[in-house]
Amino acid sequence: MTRRFEGDRLLVATHNKGKLEEMSHLLEPFGVTVVGAAEMNLPEPEETEDTFVGNARIKAHAAAQATGLPALSDDSGITIDALDGAPGVYTADWAETGNGRDFLMAMTRAHNELEALNAPHPRTAQFRCTLVLAWPDGHDEVFEGVVPGHLVWPIRGKDGFGYDPMFVPEGYDQTFAEMDRWEKNKISHRARAVELFVKGCFGG
Ligand code: IMP
Repeated sequence: MTRRFEGDRLLVATHNKGKLEEMSHLLEPFGVTVVGAAEMNLPEPEETEDTFVGNARIKAHAAAQATGLPALSDDSGITIDALDGAPGVYTADWAETGNGRDFLMAMTRAHNELEALNAPHPRTAQFRCTLVLAWPDGHDEVFEGVVPGHLVWPIRGKDGFGYDPMFVPEGYDQTFAEMDRWEKNKISHRARAVELFVKGCFGG
């Protein structure tokens, strides 16, 4: 049985303003005030686990312990079947240049590795989002959202971010970067995980 969220303040363990705004908007109908990690001067703990849930747990528990508030964290990325699930938890690392992130470089690496393996088409992949809600007493609940799809090359579309221009979600012809932002946000891995979180913890 999923533990319900009974408080009126929820800490969102992220320094990302976009994620914070999205959460505030989604939780408004439930009378919950969303507080960000930066507002509470929380440090960003090192993500040392090799699973999405492991890293999301580190962030959520660290924030709940530091503040005494229930804390929600997320960890997301893309898994490519022919690369045995890579880049997975290293999705952002593949874009690291030492001087900011370069997602064209990251997407090119994914494509080159698939070419080197002569991987058959469709080159299936999944965007994944794991949300963890941790309470100060150490209890947690985990919610996972997945969008299956396939990769295309050359990349297409100018909207979106990260690996969006090479990913076509199942049931669609456009890449995430060609889709209208709101349409993408409605079907994204993050939206699916949030839907499960709201159902589980708010009965919404
Ligand atoms: P993080 O969990 O915010 O660190 O995200 C991990 C990485 O996954 C990000 O750097 C993004 O590039 C990638 N990622 C997560 N969600 C999406 C998405 O919706 N579109 C494209 N890339 C994404």
